[in-house]
Amino acid sequence: MASSSLSLLAILVALLALAAEADKNTTHIHFFLHNNEGGLNPTVVKVVGSRSQSSFGGIYVFDDPLTEGPDLASKLIGRAQGSYVVAAQDPSSALLVTANLVFTERMYNGSTLALLSRLSFDTPVAELSVV
Ligand SMILES: *[C@@H]1O[C@H](CO)[C@@H](O)[C@H](O)[C@H]1NC(C)=O
Ligand SMILES: *[C@@H]1O[C@H](CO)[C@@H](O)[C@H](O)[C@H]1NC(C)=O
Repeated sequence: MASSSLSLLAILVALLALAAEADKNTTHIHFFLHNNEGGLNPTVVKVVGSRSQSSFGGIYVFDDPLTEGPDLASKLIGRAQGSYVVAAQDPSSALLVTANLVFTERMYNGSTLALLSRLSFDTPVAELSVV
């Protein structure tokens, strides 16, 4: 369960397009988030285990690179730093995601977006709330 949740989180956040309105101006920001659970350099760690049979109650912390293209070797433009909690008793339904997206390139260098959202697995495309 945790494994599929992580993969899905990576895909969903990678597809996030931000639309910020300012004087009827809209900005679309596309990036790819690389969430790596295993190997020598995991970008996510489990910090609280679950006492239930399912993964309900588990807490994970991540620090994932954000890149311009889908390849991890493409230009690094920021990091996604935060946590997610398996907050639904049916762990296949949703996660609680809290994260900062920290940008490090060009006009967005130093800017952050804060996410506080339910990540639902019930729909083919998920939307995450930016606060
Ligand atoms: C949108 O923002 C850009 C950059 O600030 C500005 O040059 C442009 O005039 C704006 N367009 C509109 C329709 O407000
Ligand atoms: C981004 O901003 C930091 C802090 O001001 C600076 O050290 C860094 O060189 C900047 N990076 C780029 C790519 O401009």
